[in-house]
Amino acid sequence: MTEHSYQPADHYDRVTRAWGLLLGAELHYGVFEGADEPLDEATHRLTERMAAAARFEPDLRVLDVGCGTGAQARYLATEQGVRVTGITTSSVGVDIARERTAEAGLDDRVGFEVRDGTDNEFPDASFDRVWILESSHLMPHRDRLVSEAARVLAPGGRVVWCDIVRHREIPFLELRDRREEFATLRAAFGDARMEPLASYVSWFEDAGLTVEVAEDLTEATLPTFEAWRTNAEQHRDQVIDLIGESSLEEFVRSCDILESLWREGTFGYGMAAASKPT
Ligand SMILES: C[S@@+](CC[C@H](N)C(=O)[O-])C[C@H]1O[C@@H](n2cnc3c(N)ncnc32)[C@H](O)[C@@H]1O
Repeated sequence: MTEHSYQPADHYDRVTRAWGLLLGAELHYGVFEGADEPLDEATHRLTERMAAAARFEPDLRVLDVGCGTGAQARYLATEQGVRVTGITTSSVGVDIARERTAEAGLDDRVGFEVRDGTDNEFPDASFDRVWILESSHLMPHRDRLVSEAARVLAPGGRVVWCDIVRHREIPFLELRDRREEFATLRAAFGDARMEPLASYVSWFEDAGLTVEVAEDLTEATLPTFEAWRTNAEQHRDQVIDLIGESSLEEFVRSCDILESLWREGTFGYGMAAASKPT
């Protein structure tokens, strides 16, 4: 796959259904309190941590950038009483999200659209919260994601973000030596680029936002890989039907690679929240 032909939407259109089996209902890492905890509890804990940082109030307007299949949007509408617009570049994601939201009877409070988080085309100041859960690593122009989030926030609004982060520079020679590992990650997870937590803090500040929370979650997210490998074993036949055997093998190998990158201090996980001055 060349850089020019790659579109994140292609990748998510292809993998979204299989991801539901491998990653669970929420398509993101877990924040574990114990290594044996069920994955769904740990992924939901991450959502709850972000919700606490967002300081929701009933009826606020929330933009969910990179909404997956809408699990968090439905949770936020049900548990926090907010109204959510979820956007993703994957039309398959939007189809599944709309179907599940209709089944849950939440259409009046939750909607989904195919839009790009780095150029969302919503009017200025049209949301009270912007929620960016593990989608930023897929966007080449991180500064534009943040400036768009700041633009659509109303004064006094707040953006909450979390994602995979990079803890150190990876020298060119190391990148070259480990190119097969990084190619496997790209094949399994899409064309991602990790940036340090400090860079996100700077982008928020550059966009005129005041950073309120910046937290490292590397250790708490580490058991995620073992949980994903267990899901891969348990749902092997169904996943092969959806994405093929070689993609499943790539996924399992990627869990091993990411786990090593976490343990050696190269990659990890971060969360931040920032507010727009009134
Ligand atoms: C790892 S999933 C996270 C989904 C969801 N937030 C969750 O935690 O369950 C990444 C999501 O980002 C979306 N995405 C990737 N690039 C995007 C972009 N430029 N704009 C909006 N969404 C994007 C993908 O389609 C996918 O829905």
